[in-house]
Amino acid sequence: MSLATTLQSFPRHPLLFGPSPVHPLERLTRHLGGPALWAKREDCNSGVAYGGNKTRKLEYLVADALAQGCDTLVSVGGVQSNHTRQVAAVAARAGLKCVLIQESWVQWPDSVYDKVGNILISRLAGADVRLVRAGFGIGVKESWERAVREVEEAGGTPYAIPAGASEHRLGGLGFAGWAAELAEQERRLGVYFDTIVVCSVTGSTQAGMVAGFAALAEDAEAAEVAGAAGAEVGAAWGARPRRVIGVDASAEPARTREQTLRIARGTAGLIGVRRKIEDADVELDERYHAGTYGIPDEATLDAMRLAARTEGMVTDPVYEGKSMAGLIDLVRRGEIGADSTVLYAHLGGQPALNAYSALFD
Ligand SMILES: Cc1ncc(COP(=O)(O)O)c(C=O)c1O
Repeated sequence: MSLATTLQSFPRHPLLFGPSPVHPLERLTRHLGGPALWAKREDCNSGVAYGGNKTRKLEYLVADALAQGCDTLVSVGGVQSNHTRQVAAVAARAGLKCVLIQESWVQWPDSVYDKVGNILISRLAGADVRLVRAGFGIGVKESWERAVREVEEAGGTPYAIPAGASEHRLGGLGFAGWAAELAEQERRLGVYFDTIVVCSVTGSTQAGMVAGFAALAEDAEAAEVAGAAGAEVGAAWGARPRRVIGVDASAEPARTREQTLRIARGTAGLIGVRRKIEDADVELDERYHAGTYGIPDEATLDAMRLAARTEGMVTDPVYEGKSMAGLIDLVRRGEIGADSTVLYAHLGGQPALNAYSALFD
């Protein structure tokens, strides 16, 4: 069964406009003078509170919550979490209640840090927003488990969504679907992306891509064996393997790598990939996280300026600014060759920019 058909067997609650846009980054490409650069834009994938990568993942989790008769989504993240903002808005869209644990993941002095941007939107969407003192961590959090119990004790039926919607059986499906969607867009545009650059923290975005591309490669092999219809596609995939470069923004890359690999394997099993997902399938570059989750360095800020000043493309200092810094540096060093065709996966996150105004005074 093909990846597209397999994915149709999982209930999905539609939240996206449709396929997210793919377009060339012409001025950034010219400026850097290396490979052709393109972007696929999860930052404009949905009309639900600006969308983002979590909205794509949540299509599967919300369908599961509704099927189980849950009435409250319960999730966790930092104060300026894009993930919790998307959970709040998606809960509203699905007619569910929402409890959010907002932990103090980032020590940032901006006086409106806990008032503007993502957290403002979560409050606007009616979520029960609870500020909790607890540090950064991508695993299962005690504060969140307690909130799940509290909903139960109050007579509600919670649906527990971990940080980043990642450590969840269905967490990788959204970006396995992204891989299938991209392959279709490539066919239409007549372009093949041999390199994909993606920001990674809780891991299920990159993990879903890795599992999805593994499934597509097996689909292509099967089509080649079957004959002409798939031969062209199969040859392209067979001859030119894809490289998915995760750019770590957690500043705890060992944890992110381990979690990404585990989710990639779980997702691959779920979508019927036959081969083993190897350690080497999860490539995570540790050079661009700037030392601390949520805090940018000069390279992050330079990358944000360059993306905005060449392409009008807005990135944030927590996630996408760091993956953009990675993309730019990898091109400048020649670690991504000039003959490559590169896709920058823009995962959203712009609302957090409002909480970092001092950076651009
Ligand atoms: C804008 C943005 N980019 C990248 C990421 C990283 O994605 P993941 O947590 O699935 O690794 C996140 C969330 O953590 C995010 O909100």
